[in-house]
Amino acid sequence: MAMNENNFASRLLDWYREHGRVLPWRSNPTPYGVLVSEFMLQQTRVDTVVPYFLRFMERFPTLASLANSQEEEVLRLWQGLGYYSRARNLRKSAHKALESFKEIPHNPAELSSLPGIGPYMEKAIRAFAFDLEAVPIDGNLMRVYARLEARKVYPDDSKAKKEAEDYFLKRLSSPREFGQALMDLGELVCLPNGEPKCSQCPFKDICKANAAGDALNYPLKKAKKSSPIEKRSVLLLLNEKGEIALCKRPGNGLLASMDEFPNVLGGRGELEKAFGVGDLKYLGHKHHVFSHVRWEMDVYLGKGTLNECTYVALSSLKEKAALPTAFAKLLIFVPA
Ligand code: ADE
Repeated sequence: MAMNENNFASRLLDWYREHGRVLPWRSNPTPYGVLVSEFMLQQTRVDTVVPYFLRFMERFPTLASLANSQEEEVLRLWQGLGYYSRARNLRKSAHKALESFKEIPHNPAELSSLPGIGPYMEKAIRAFAFDLEAVPIDGNLMRVYARLEARKVYPDDSKAKKEAEDYFLKRLSSPREFGQALMDLGELVCLPNGEPKCSQCPFKDICKANAAGDALNYPLKKAKKSSPIEKRSVLLLLNEKGEIALCKRPGNGLLASMDEFPNVLGGRGELEKAFGVGDLKYLGHKHHVFSHVRWEMDVYLGKGTLNECTYVALSSLKEKAALPTAFAKLLIFVPA
């Protein structure tokens, strides 16, 4: 069957209505819900985001409630999602949107003036929140496009992204569903690795990569650079009540303003020197991978109090602290 640009959309939307994922920010979408979900979905998988989204929307159900929130509480709700600057930007964006526009704006310039909203998110919000003519190009859409047209491009190549955007804009209808349908097609059918499910694809007859039987060759893959490694020593320091010492991280850089266990770059000697503690017991080793660095952590147990720390009962760490996963994963070492 010849495919004109119009029936691209109807094939896609038919497929989506039957096979698309049911996700909490999609049913009865509100601009605020879409804003929250898009901040969470940048860098994080849908399955991980769903419970965070539901908890967040329960605690901060409206733009005004988030605009008037305390940053600390927002960070606590974000705990475990990573990339915490997103949480801070989301809160600031809510505040600014309410202050400057009284609501979440829908024009590109106003949206882009909000902290943390770049070209991708601006388009995602226009399309998914307001059903306006926009197609946000993420990794999934890039892959679908590269295969449909057999384009040997890198997914983060800005010229190729523009090509993909133009291709989809030409075929666009129902923007709110169109972009999300392409995301689902990429997640469920046009798989990046393993075996793409080309036989289930609504575009199997027009896909140039499928015709050649080499979908996996598109898009091009960048050789992975390995991240630098930092050797760290971390102190789980308990006071007489059995509460654990927490420090606040600096206000900028990695894990800015989050809580942490006292730690240093280096080994046991550096740890003892930095915090003036001795008599440490080695508990074990863990690593944590951030986007650009890998921490190799040796973990030590100590007893004592440090003025620069606050002490929190282990049982209330979850409500009282914004403890990033890199540190939360060390709690398995704490003796019962
Ligand atoms: N990633 C970013 N936005 C998304 C959405 N609305 N649905 C699924 N994945 C997404």
